[in-house]
Amino acid sequence: MLACRMALHNSLDRVLEVLLEISKEAGEILLEGWESRPKTESKAALHDLVTAYDRRSEALLLQRLSRAFPECAIVGEEGGRVEQAPGAPVFYVDPLDGTINFAHGLPVFAVSIGLVEAGVPVAGVVHAPALNFTFSGALGLGATRNGRRLSVSQADNVEQSLLVTGFSSTRPQPTDNIPEFAALNASSRGARRLGSAALDLAFVAAGWLDGCWERRISSWDVAGGAAIITAAGGKVSDLDGSALDVTQGRILASNGRIHAELSARLHEVAKGIGGEWP
Ligand code: IPD
Ligand code: CA
Ligand code: CA
Repeated sequence: MLACRMALHNSLDRVLEVLLEISKEAGEILLEGWESRPKTESKAALHDLVTAYDRRSEALLLQRLSRAFPECAIVGEEGGRVEQAPGAPVFYVDPLDGTINFAHGLPVFAVSIGLVEAGVPVAGVVHAPALNFTFSGALGLGATRNGRRLSVSQADNVEQSLLVTGFSSTRPQPTDNIPEFAALNASSRGARRLGSAALDLAFVAAGWLDGCWERRISSWDVAGGAAIITAAGGKVSDLDGSALDVTQGRILASNGRIHAELSARLHEVAKGIGGEWP
């Protein structure tokens, strides 16, 4: 039995081994449903969807994680929970990130698992089965895609950067993030919207994108990708550059070089519209 604390300090490589194995098992479940136009149900909001595949993937991941790491807490998007005393390391699990893409047969979706200790994402796996990309990373161990070492990009200003953001399906106002999206799309080489926050972050880690931001995002969307970006030499934080708290619903992630400028540009937009900051 692998105790969580021991795993964190001595065996993050073993943690990654388990996460890689179980995310691939969960990915097999997702591949059964991809392209089948699965039945969807709405959750908290009309476009906040869930399918039977989200639930099956989460059930498998919870069972496997709780068996491998019995001292860790687990928080799954679809309600799966393993409670522990406060301060225990937590696995945040998104059994299917990009459910809307998945439901339409668009292959941009992933299983995302992140381990957070003392508030810091320390290990993560983002596995996109239909794209055949598996990203992983852990503090001190670097980051990989399909076993090959990866690192963040070298872009050193926003003007020469390719960015990405997302729009929460539960956002209270349909215009949320639109001014930011328009402004950053104009001042960079482009702002993309891919529909999977976990893959947005993994693609920043891979150096394919230079920066990412999102509001009203959940811990399970970002914990895995944040750990991978840090391991790939990038930076993750709150929108204003202060320490990332995955439970606060905001993230700014980048190659590190454009971080301060991206934060400043988002702040400018917020000031211009009298919007919230951070
Ligand atoms: C959503 C996706 C999307 C992001 C939303 C998330 P889900 O996750 O990651 O890209 O913009 O904020 O809720 O619902 O597909 O797991
Ligand atoms: Ca998600
Ligand atoms: Ca999900």
